[in-house]
Amino acid sequence: MSKVENVAVLISEEDIKKRVAELGSEITDYYNGEPVKMICILKGGVMFMVDLAKNVNLPVMFDFMSVSSYGSSTVSSGNIKILKDLDAPIEGQNVLIVEDIIDSGRTLYHLLGYLENKNPKSIKLCTLFDKPERREFDVEVEWTGFNIPDEFIVGYGLDFDERYRNLPYIGVLSFDEE
Ligand code: IMP
Ligand code: MG
Repeated sequence: MSKVENVAVLISEEDIKKRVAELGSEITDYYNGEPVKMICILKGGVMFMVDLAKNVNLPVMFDFMSVSSYGSSTVSSGNIKILKDLDAPIEGQNVLIVEDIIDSGRTLYHLLGYLENKNPKSIKLCTLFDKPERREFDVEVEWTGFNIPDEFIVGYGLDFDERYRNLPYIGVLSFDEE
């Protein structure tokens, strides 16, 4: 018996586009003309950050961080490890962390502590997806695209075992026996 992966559409490309545009204009209003450094959490946040940034009408800078997350398992593992750090200091800057999804909150909880120590002017969090039922670590999220049920999703940057990131929509991944 072998397992076959199945992807069922949960959120369409059109709905993602609409929501990302809304988030972009909320962020634009919030910062009121001040510059913002958007920090993308690689790799899942890439699609979201580039699309979001196109909808933000402010002076924007990009930086990228990579922290260890899930391997080929769909279950969260231990503490986070920084694989790629910021390229430039964030002291005195408005920092906007752009993340694909918050699950237990472990990644963001540790990352927020790390970045707060660098004395930014402000630090806010924007996630496209949130699984509130799964929260174990308390993190304050300023902007959320969609709350989703406790299921494993792929597409629009999110992977399973590094695959499916290029899907333009969000799908729920399931495994069928064959
Ligand atoms: P947390 O630290 O438990 O909040 O996990 C956050 C990270 O786990 C995300 O940045 C994703 O990389 C990964 N993750 C959590 N849920 C999913 C999912 O449903 N699909 C794909 N990746 C996920
Ligand atoms: Mg991620």
